[in-house]
Amino acid sequence: MGRKGREIVQAEIDVKGVIDDLNKAVASEWAAAYFFWVGSVVQEGFLGEEVAEYFAKQVQGELNHASMLSKRIVELGGQPVDMIGKVDSMSMFGRLPIPKDPGDAVGFVKKALEFEAKAVEYYNKLAKKYFGKDHTSYKLVSDILADEVADEDELENLIGRKKSR
Ligand SMILES: [Fe+2]
Ligand SMILES: [Fe+2]
Repeated sequence: MGRKGREIVQAEIDVKGVIDDLNKAVASEWAAAYFFWVGSVVQEGFLGEEVAEYFAKQVQGELNHASMLSKRIVELGGQPVDMIGKVDSMSMFGRLPIPKDPGDAVGFVKKALEFEAKAVEYYNKLAKKYFGKDHTSYKLVSDILADEVADEDELENLIGRKKSR
């Protein structure tokens, strides 16, 4: 980001803190992408095939989030974390265990629902933190938040857990 762009953010918020927040998000997106990728290749069975197809699409979605976040980190003068090997320790999810039974499509979806809920919470927290202070990061995390909300909804639909609201 140009000098002015950084200056106006710096005047309102600790830029180093924003970079750290966004790096934690990048690690989490990689963890989610990895989970979806494993799920997309190992799942078996009738429901498993449908879930695997959805998971394969999600791999691209979560990696795209990682790229969007990383571009903003670079704009802010930071470095997207040198990540392989640090994903588990840096991610907001901690270690994401992969269900052992490849036929357990519901187990895969439940695990994904758990981490999508955490992502929704985290991006919501960041959106509140950046609101009125760093407009570009605010817009970025709000857009990703909307995607994660949609992910949660689609996952619930996959296993028919949609409750009447
Ligand atoms: Fe994501
Ligand atoms: Fe997601």
